[in-house]
Amino acid sequence: MNKIPVWFDTDIGVDDSIAFLVLNKQPQLEIKGISAVAGNVELEYTYPNARNICCLAGKNYPVYKGAEKPLFEPLQTAHAIHGEEGLGRGKLPVSHVPHTDIPAWDAIYNAAAQAKGELRIITAGPLTNIAIAILKYPQLRDLVKQILIMGGAAAGGNVTAAAEYNIYADPHGAQIVFKSGIPIVMCGLDVTMDAYMTPEEVYALGAVDSPVCRFFRDSTIDVLNFYERGSKPGLCLHDVCPVLYLAHPELFSGKQAGVYVETRGRITRGKTVTDLMSDKKFPERNAFVVLEVDRDRFSAMVSEILRSY
Ligand code: RIB
Ligand code: CA
Repeated sequence: MNKIPVWFDTDIGVDDSIAFLVLNKQPQLEIKGISAVAGNVELEYTYPNARNICCLAGKNYPVYKGAEKPLFEPLQTAHAIHGEEGLGRGKLPVSHVPHTDIPAWDAIYNAAAQAKGELRIITAGPLTNIAIAILKYPQLRDLVKQILIMGGAAAGGNVTAAAEYNIYADPHGAQIVFKSGIPIVMCGLDVTMDAYMTPEEVYALGAVDSPVCRFFRDSTIDVLNFYERGSKPGLCLHDVCPVLYLAHPELFSGKQAGVYVETRGRITRGKTVTDLMSDKKFPERNAFVVLEVDRDRFSAMVSEILRSY
């Protein structure tokens, strides 16, 4: 079986780490590299977090440092949700894989060139690294098959009433990616707020006596409490959505639509303006907007994968 080459770009925080652990167990996908970006927490944490989650999984994927801040906006972190170092109360083993000085954007280009047009990029954080790669290497438009984004929302937002965090954090970077011409799959809040594990499912998985499930338990406890205080039905696994969409699209449904990012709005900065209805206002239907998920199957699949470590 020809495996699908995949790149994982992340501001590795709590749901990012679960997304990686799920991605690592997809037999039809081959992780070619991981890049860390500043987002949930600073790069000084997201970079070692990305290295160390590989160590927990028993893998030594190459991990590259990316942007310390968005293209133009100041970095706005989410320590209140993801904790001081981005992993809640979770602790990871320390990776001893040698460091590399190759920056994320160069590594992404190298992987795309090597994959000869088959590379899929999964993003779980602000799109700064991908935007820089596209600006430095315009030929990426013909080398990257698909970018699967956790980000945006056809309706609503979580950082503001209009914007989801990953897009809000770097709206200019996001706009460069959405306008790149590379086919986009947008897993926005429309689907990710329904992609949750119930508290009972979280506790059951966290009770399994294994290093991965103990890490899951410790890293998610405060985030679950955050969602419960906001009267949400459970632990939203936002970043797992693009991973499982690529591996198991049958769990999801959505619509092709034009999507562009508001970069200047005082109230609407970072909004992914999504033309789901008129379908006439944007020149292209540049993104597949994922709107629904089979939650029961999604949650069961995540549990089964984390128990398998
Ligand atoms: O809005 C949810 C997104 O912001 C997720 O990627 C989460 O990890 C945070 O980065
Ligand atoms: Ca993230």
